[in-house]
Amino acid sequence: MKTNLLFLLVAFFFSKEMAAQKFDNLAMTPPMGWNSWNSFQCDGVNETVIKEMADAMITSGFKDVGYEYIVIDDCWQIGRDENGYILVDKEKFPSGIKSLVAYVHSKGLKFGIYSDAGTKTCAGRPGSKGFERQDAETYAKWDVDYLKYDWCFTEGQDAITSYTLMRDELFKAGRPIVFSICEWGENKPWEWAKDVGHLWRTTLDIDMEARYDGNIWGNLYGWSDLVDMQVGLEKYAGPGHWNDPDMLAVGNNNMPENEARAHFSMWCMLAAPLMAGNDLRDMTEIDQKILTNKELIAINQDVLGKQGFKIEDFGNFEIWQKPLANGDMAICFFNREITNKNFEINWANIKIKDFEGDYKLKDLWTNEVVGSTDASMTIDVPSRDVIVFRLSK
Ligand code: GLA
Repeated sequence: MKTNLLFLLVAFFFSKEMAAQKFDNLAMTPPMGWNSWNSFQCDGVNETVIKEMADAMITSGFKDVGYEYIVIDDCWQIGRDENGYILVDKEKFPSGIKSLVAYVHSKGLKFGIYSDAGTKTCAGRPGSKGFERQDAETYAKWDVDYLKYDWCFTEGQDAITSYTLMRDELFKAGRPIVFSICEWGENKPWEWAKDVGHLWRTTLDIDMEARYDGNIWGNLYGWSDLVDMQVGLEKYAGPGHWNDPDMLAVGNNNMPENEARAHFSMWCMLAAPLMAGNDLRDMTEIDQKILTNKELIAINQDVLGKQGFKIEDFGNFEIWQKPLANGDMAICFFNREITNKNFEINWANIKIKDFEGDYKLKDLWTNEVVGSTDASMTIDVPSRDVIVFRLSK
C-alpha cells in the first residue's frame, strides 16, 4: 500500500515536471514565414487566401530561401462547442483547419495559428482563457506547428502565469509547437520568457504607414522606432529564444525601396523573426528581391544566433554589428536622414567588438567583394537606406 502511494507520488511529480517546460530544439534560428495580419487583417483572411499564399511561397522563391511558416492570424475562430472546443468560422474556412494544415504541409511548409491568453482575441473572437487544454489539444490534433498567443482582454491576468499555463498545455498535448508570445513587451518578456516561449514581441504593432514627415523619421511605431526599442535587448536573444520587433511591413502601404531595404536589413541584423506580411501573390519585383536576399537572410539565420547591436551613433547615422559564426561579422551603416550620408570608413577607428586584423569585405546588396578592412574607404549611404557588409577572415 505504502509502496503504491509512493509510486503514485513519484509518478505525479514526474508528470508535472515533464509538463513544465517548452519544446526544446525548435526555432534554433529566427522563425521565417508569412502571417496574414498585415495584409488581410480580420475581414480579408480565408481559406483561399491561405492556400494561395502557400502556393505563392513556392512560386515566388520564398521557400527556397528559408521561409517556412504560414501563419493565420486573428479571425479564423467563431465560438466554442458544449465541451469548450473551439469552432472554426465555416464561412471563411469551409474545409476546416485540419485540411488546410494538410494542404500547407503538402507544400513542404509549416502551419501556424493564432489565439489569445484572455477571454477574447484582439478582434473580439473567442480567446483561450479557461480553455487552454482544449485549445492545445486541438492544435496538436490538427498538426499545427506554431502558435502566436496574443494579450488582449486579459484584465487582471498575470502574464508569466498565463503564458506558462499555455506552454505547459502545449507540452502536454505532445506535438512540438513553436510558441510565439505576443504581449507587446508590456511585461518585459525578455526577462522571463526564455523558458516559456521561442519568441516574444518586444513592442506594440508596427505602424506600416509611418514615413519621414519632415521632422522625425516615422512616428512612434514606425519600423525605425521599433529598431530603437531593441537597443539593449541583444543579451536576451539566442537559439530557441528571440526578441520579436513585429512582422515585416515590406511590400505594404507602398513602402519605398530604400526604406524596405533598410527595414529588412535591420530585421536581419537584429536576428528578428522574418515574418513577411505582404500579399505574396501580387508583389513588385523589387519587394520580392528584397525579401529573398540570400546574403541578408544568411546574416539573420546565422547559427551563432547573436542579435546585432549598435556600436556607433552619430545622430541620424548609426553603425550596427552582428557577430557571426566562424569569426565573421556583419556591419550595417544605417542612414536615417532624408539626405545622403558620405562617410569615410577607417575600420580600425570604429568601435567594432572583437575586431581582429584584416577582413575581406562583401557588400550584401550589390553582392560584390569590395576590398578589405586594411584600407580606409568612403561610402555614400542614400537617404533612409543602409549599406551592409559581411566581414570574413
Ligand atoms: C494584436 C497583435 C497583432 C495582431 C492583432 C490581431 O494587435 O499585436 O499582431 O495579431 O492583434 O487582432
